[in-house]
Amino acid sequence: MPGKQMSPARDADWANDAPRLEVLFSADAIATRMDALAREVADRCGRHLLVIAILKGSFIFAADLIRALHRAGSTPEVDFLSLASYGNATVSSGVVTVLRDIETAVAGRDVLLIDDILESGRTLAFAQAHIRERGARQVLTCVLLDKAVTRTANIEADFRAFQCPDVFVVGYGMDKAHRYRELPFVGRIVPS
Ligand code: IMP
Ligand code: MG
Repeated sequence: MPGKQMSPARDADWANDAPRLEVLFSADAIATRMDALAREVADRCGRHLLVIAILKGSFIFAADLIRALHRAGSTPEVDFLSLASYGNATVSSGVVTVLRDIETAVAGRDVLLIDDILESGRTLAFAQAHIRERGARQVLTCVLLDKAVTRTANIEADFRAFQCPDVFVVGYGMDKAHRYRELPFVGRIVPS
């Protein structure tokens, strides 16, 4: 007897059953963008880059982008940097700390940092400085969503999948109070 399996049809039902979520970037739109983004990265970074995904929010984006990089002819090494930015559910305090550091030696390497969202820029600026301090040759940055807000830190992403309005988003790895990471799309929680 077939078990309870998630299927695209089931996902669509889920979205329909969750009217508090408005889809901003559908699973199809994300998948379509991924290969073009990977080609941009591969053209500029070469084949042997070190990809560092910032956890937790970028884990699904990173998994898709890394496989798209493979299709684009790259052979990236992969590591993870787990950061915390303390604050309430939707507003970061701006104090970033390392929860789990990378294991790979980065001296002399070309590094691509992957994060889910660039907002104030504090998270990405912290991560970039952290990796540069260890002597990386260059540290480029790639985000899924570039929020149209004024930056606190002086940083822009080298690559981005999408520009995003200044609203709180969830899904495709991103959470609100530990929920919604599993959604295959990026959505906005519609205030009730
Ligand atoms: P920044 O440090 O202000 O640039 O914020 C970036 C980090 O805040 C991201 O890595 C996310 O983890 C988190 N973040 C910012 N906006 C959102 C959002 O709309 N939904 C979920 N997480 C967000
Ligand atoms: Mg994050």
